[in-house]
Amino acid sequence: MRVLGIESSCDETAAAVVTGEGLVLSDVVHSQVSLHAEHGGVVPELASRDHLRNAAPVVKAALAGAGLTVADLDAVAVTHRPGLVGALLVGVQVAKGLAWGAGKPLYGVDHLMGHLLSVFVVRGDPSTAPAPPAFPFVALLVSGGHTAIYRVDAPTADAITELGATRDDAAGEAFDKVGKLLGLGYPGGPRIDRLALTGDPAAIPFSPPMARRDSLEFSFSGLKTQVAQWVAREGVPEGQRLADVCASFQATVTGSLARKLVRAAETQGVPRVVIGGGVAANRELRERVTRLAASRGLEAFIPAVANCTDNAAMIAYVGALHAAAGPGDGWDLVATSATVLPRATRKGRGAR
Ligand code: KG4
Ligand code: ZN
Repeated sequence: MRVLGIESSCDETAAAVVTGEGLVLSDVVHSQVSLHAEHGGVVPELASRDHLRNAAPVVKAALAGAGLTVADLDAVAVTHRPGLVGALLVGVQVAKGLAWGAGKPLYGVDHLMGHLLSVFVVRGDPSTAPAPPAFPFVALLVSGGHTAIYRVDAPTADAITELGATRDDAAGEAFDKVGKLLGLGYPGGPRIDRLALTGDPAAIPFSPPMARRDSLEFSFSGLKTQVAQWVAREGVPEGQRLADVCASFQATVTGSLARKLVRAAETQGVPRVVIGGGVAANRELRERVTRLAASRGLEAFIPAVANCTDNAAMIAYVGALHAAAGPGDGWDLVATSATVLPRATRKGRGAR
């Protein structure tokens, strides 16, 4: 099976062709980072217009990269939720046009399902690819808009259970807001990751959020305030001091994420952990999850970095799963800001 995936939920216009087994035949990502950088974050209207400019060339490049035409495809998959509705709409309309014109089935894909299952997407030689996890597994989804831990019993939304989530900011949002406080521009995540390499993670004792042993919930806005208060007191750091603040902040966030993921797996009696989403590209998070899981006798499955940040290969893969399971969606498929995944945790409410 060959499925074209299209992704336009936020600030990447992406298209990819993937086989039913998850092998990537082509993968094209056009990033809008430079467009939004001067505004310090994603401007939805600018995002939509840029998707409109780039969707057709990106899709053409993905088809050319796979050496295919639309006629060779078995299905067209597109992110239709959750995300910026105006941005999603562009991808959805392009996908509908392509699928309708070529007489191919259309599948709407939930972006978070893509992140959760991105560990199954194979790049390069499949004979040397690491084995994917068996079901069930416990997954940490950490992106710019979402942070949650799920038990995944099968690759369908009705077999996924939320075990805990953030009460306020997502982990990526915290990285980006702290990046802004430190004058690093947008997006802060990759820049903090780079600076943290040369910093001392013990330099500033930020206290870990929601540290109660049995809690699987996260909170990052208090930690962001701790950094803001530090900056108000000490001034915007430079040089080694900047690296130290980045390392201390990153260690606090990734420590909290890794500990809770492993705790969730142990509580569930599930010996496998998986990570996904843009923050799963973070070097320290990848290392901590690998190390902590091994020390507890759990297997850790870490997707390739290119599978973590927004891409269309993960969308095409989930589309291929949908295609194997049943007929396509109707031409009335809509773009919506809500995920299909169940929410168990309510933002801002309940015992901590
Ligand atoms: O999954 P993603 O690409 O888009 C959403 O679905 O939100 O995640 C984007 C987020 C941004 O907040 C970005 O700062 C963060 O992922 N991110 C990172 C790293 N790379 C991207 N955060 C920490 N370390 C990184 N290396
Ligand atoms: Zn994403």
